[in-house]
Amino acid sequence: MISVPSKEELMKKLEEKIRKCKKCPLWEVRTNPVPGDGSYDTKIMFVGEAPGYWEDQMGLPFVGKAGKVLDELLKLIGLKRSEVYITNIVKCRPPNNRDPTEEEIKACAPYLDAQIDIIKPKVIVTLGRFSTAYIMKKYGFNVEPISKIHGRVFEARTLFGKIYIVPMYHPAVALYRPQLRRELEEDFKKLKSLLSS
Ligand code: URA
Ligand code: SF4
Repeated sequence: MISVPSKEELMKKLEEKIRKCKKCPLWEVRTNPVPGDGSYDTKIMFVGEAPGYWEDQMGLPFVGKAGKVLDELLKLIGLKRSEVYITNIVKCRPPNNRDPTEEEIKACAPYLDAQIDIIKPKVIVTLGRFSTAYIMKKYGFNVEPISKIHGRVFEARTLFGKIYIVPMYHPAVALYRPQLRRELEEDFKKLKSLLSS
């Protein structure tokens, strides 16, 4: 009999691959790669940009200041970290938190693609312009500024069925722009209605 590997087995294998990855120059300057964290059985995935200082130290996504904002936003709609899956488009920290380059995104994004294929989420929330641009393009949408499309729900078809993409501001912007924090809160409330519909 052929046994189908579980999501758990597939993800563990993929995470091992990411931990050993040298596909782009960031491997030389990382302390720890950050594959992702949370439930593999979840309906909802959050995709950020790249690990920062604390993420690189701990090997976990969104554990620094931006992570605290994300935790608060999740709490606002009654979700725990352990109920969702959180990852980034680039798995190793760019030096001094600079923007990831096109080459780094191109090298690393296949891991995100694989994570999406394993988890088969119903909703993908993209946090910030890099993950938004990548995911929107991947599913055939025009890439537009986050200021224009944040909080909107885009319906896409995949091999495993219909999914919704919801672009949002990156939680780090809430640290220095209170107005954008309010917009993030509004977008999270919309996400809650989408999840319960
Ligand atoms: N910012 C991100 O985009 N991802 C993290 O994991 C932490 C901060
Ligand atoms: Fe590999 Fe991605 Fe890390 Fe580059 S950022 S070394 S592609 S895991």
